[in-house]
Amino acid sequence: MKFTSKATKVLSLSLCLAVSAVVSTMAQAKTFKVAVGDAAGGTQHELGKKFNEVLMEKTGGKHDAKLFMNGQLGSEQDTVNDAAIGTLDFSILAINNVTPFSPSVGALTLPYMIQSLDDAITLTQGPVGEQLVENTLRDAGVRIIGWAYSGFRVLTNSKHPVTTPADLKDVVVRVPKNEIMIDTYKAWGINATPMAWSETFTALQQGVVDGQDNPYITVYAMKFDEVQKYVTNLRYLFSIEPLIVSESVFQDQSAEDQAAILEAGKAATAHSAQFLRDQESKIKAELTEKGMVIADPADNEKEWIDLATSKVWPKYVDSIGGKDVLNNVLKSLGRDEI
Ligand code: MLT
Repeated sequence: MKFTSKATKVLSLSLCLAVSAVVSTMAQAKTFKVAVGDAAGGTQHELGKKFNEVLMEKTGGKHDAKLFMNGQLGSEQDTVNDAAIGTLDFSILAINNVTPFSPSVGALTLPYMIQSLDDAITLTQGPVGEQLVENTLRDAGVRIIGWAYSGFRVLTNSKHPVTTPADLKDVVVRVPKNEIMIDTYKAWGINATPMAWSETFTALQQGVVDGQDNPYITVYAMKFDEVQKYVTNLRYLFSIEPLIVSESVFQDQSAEDQAAILEAGKAATAHSAQFLRDQESKIKAELTEKGMVIADPADNEKEWIDLATSKVWPKYVDSIGGKDVLNNVLKSLGRDEI
């Protein structure tokens, strides 16, 4: 009897310990909230899905990530603030919407800086990218842990074909609230309308603006073909879309969970590059089938390039960190320094 009661005590103690271990693991288990600016089907969505898949795998199913698509959690720029103060865990957004919070990131949005997917990979995954991750952490309180590659931002509009900057004169173009992009359109002769991404579809639909620019995959995911007809294959800005995590949320995680988050970000980045390679030309063909009329810029884009680089680059050299920083970026792309 004595023996039985001692055994019972030991048994209940072990049971308590086991239950509290399970409860504490469950208490730490988390579904992270991820804000996503675009609609389902685009590169941001692909990045987010892969991130979730690998995060679950690496944490043995303890953590997962729930994607809130289509700007449900606020405009892309608002999500940077929310992540910085720790009220949001993660966000996937276009790089141009990070620049206002971390000016050196502007090196990736200078017109005609990135000329291919390979350039984008070299910059984001090499020493330049590492420095930008550090700068963004310092300036904006968020950590970039992955990158989606979305392709060149092509210009779309509902009025007429555009092949030269002069063709833009009667087209009202929406741009993100990004000074470099606003100045690029100024260099091309028009005052573009800065507007949050989350308001853009409605503004195009209601004719508040006539056009906008974004990559083919984004145009398709957002169903812009329903409100836009003409496409110009501009190559001034290769769209990169970082996955950011709130630094305070990141620091709250265990070392193993931090490692899992970083690995999931890397795996999602690799997946994103492949998704772009596989999808972009198919999507372009589908948009043509849906009635969009696609044109190349006149004269191999020369006038567009000359105006944008001569007027915009000099103005932003200082904000991205000075001439040495700019030359370092050019050097890492194997291009001539200035
Ligand atoms: C924008 O135009 O504001 C963004 O590039 C949209 C996006 O995140 O795809």
